[in-house]
Order: sequence, then C-alpha cells, then structure tokens
Amino acid sequence: MARISYVNGSYVHHQEAVVDVEDRGYQFADGIYEYIAFYNRTLLDGELHLRRLERSLNELRIEMPVSMTAMMLIIRELIVRNSREDGGLYIQVTRGVAKRDHPFPKKIRPVLVMTVCGPKTPKPHEVKDGVAVITTADIRWGRCDIKSVSLLANVLAKQKATEQKARESILVRDDRSVTEGAVSNAYIITDKGVLVTHGLDEKVLGGITRDVVLRLARKAGISVEERSFNSVEMNSAAEAFITSTSANILPVVKIDGKAVGSGKPGPVTRKLQELYLTYIFKQTGRML
Ligand SMILES: Cc1ncc(COP(=O)(O)O)c(C=O)c1O
Repeated sequence: MARISYVNGSYVHHQEAVVDVEDRGYQFADGIYEYIAFYNRTLLDGELHLRRLERSLNELRIEMPVSMTAMMLIIRELIVRNSREDGGLYIQVTRGVAKRDHPFPKKIRPVLVMTVCGPKTPKPHEVKDGVAVITTADIRWGRCDIKSVSLLANVLAKQKATEQKARESILVRDDRSVTEGAVSNAYIITDKGVLVTHGLDEKVLGGITRDVVLRLARKAGISVEERSFNSVEMNSAAEAFITSTSANILPVVKIDGKAVGSGKPGPVTRKLQELYLTYIFKQTGRML
C-alpha cells in the first residue's frame, strides 16, 4: 500500500516528502502539530482538533496555511490516497522557511505537512488489565497549552518510562502537583468516587479526549473536579487513568511500582472506557 504525504500543496510518496533545512520548525521548533485518529475514513472529533490547531497557531502568531475548508478537503483526499480505513493523521504547521534568525521574519509563509500512519490503538491487554506508569519531574516550558512541536522534555520523560518498562511518565512539578502525562492527560478517582484532573491552564494541554471524557462523565452523573492534585493524593487514589487520542482511556494500575487502589482497573474507569468506545462507534461506526 503506497504511503502518500502532503507537503505544501503537493501529494508525494512518503519517501520523497522533504522540507527545507531552513524551515523554522527544524531550526527552532517554531511550529505546531495535531494528531487525529480516523476510523472508517471518518475523523474522530476532527472539528475539535482543527479548532485546537487554529488556537495553537493564533497563540504563536503563525497564519493558518490554508482555509479550514481547504484543510478538510486535503485531509479527505490524503486519507483516500493512502487507501486506509482506520489510522492516524499528523498535521504539522511551521512558521515557514527563512534565513536563520530568531525574530519572526517579515515575509514568511507557513509550511503545511500532513502524514498518515496506521492505527495507534493500545494493546488489548493494556485496555483490559491497565498499565504501569512512573512519575517524572515536569521540566517543560510555561505554555504547555500550545500543541507545539517542541517536545524534548516530553521525549525525555517518555524515554525514561520506556527504559523502566512503564507505559507513561506522569509529570510532577516542584510543588508536587501532577500536571499530565508526557503524551496524555492524567486523572484520579478519589475514594468518594470523584473524578479529578488538572484544570485547563498553561501547565497542561487541553486534550480532545479529556474534553470528551469529562463531558461523558458529567452526563453519566460522575462528579468531576478540574483542579490540581498532588502526588500524595494520586498515590492514595482509588483509581487512576490516562487519556489521549492514541491511547483512548487506559487504566493506571501501578505508579512507581506501587499498586493503585485494588491494583486492578476500577469501576469508574471501566464505565468511562465503555462510554468512550460507544462514543467512537456512534461517530465513526467502528467498534474497537
Ligand atoms: C502532553 C500531552 N497531553 C495530553 C495529550 C492528549 O491530548 P489528546 O487527547 O488531544 O490526544 C497529549 C497527546 O498527544 C499530549 O502530548
């Protein structure tokens, strides 16, 4: 199956997809990205992702490279050209190409790249039995709400987790507050059954899965608190889980080698997993 990518106006074979070495994304990580899952060739929450893309660009004062309508047409065409029913779509927009100099160049046009990959859904045993995570210092910059391509701190955190055979690193600030995962949002369920996750501010990415899961939880009558919680509260939680577009909802059953609650996925997490799979099915017709 030919893998086709989109680079600034052209559909090209993936091996031939290239960007300029003077691209500011490469030189300064001056760009943003989105990852959107699709099932049955239908984007999951496409509109929410594209709205976040637009917000990230606005925050960095990078122009939208094409109109929203054009963006949707390119996405549809790319999915068709890749002959994939299910998969993932990366969209990356950088400020553009210019001679290396820190300030924004005056005349510069944003560069748009899109690539398609196979589905990144988690392994069945992770969904069923849960995953182990570790905690790591949150050493990221002050604008984690922007989905920037500058991911070095996240890369280091995820690498540390991988080396310790854990699924994810949960990021903890100096004041011991838990922000999110290296590539996911993080949640606990208190012994009173309250779902707690960090509020939306500059310390976390406003995950699209987070947005949907909180809506589903409230609709199901689960109490939700959007506030920071610390590592002590996390270690004594009844349940914990992480969410992202590629992981969906994964129960966390071990943190730094210590069992969470009973050491098995808890009832609130299970309920939310079920609701989220139904949500995906209703939107895309795909039962995962
Ligand atoms: C740091 C971070 N937080 C949260 C998320 C989850 O966001 P979403 O649910 O939109 O995939 C991601 C996903 O890439 C992430 O990198």
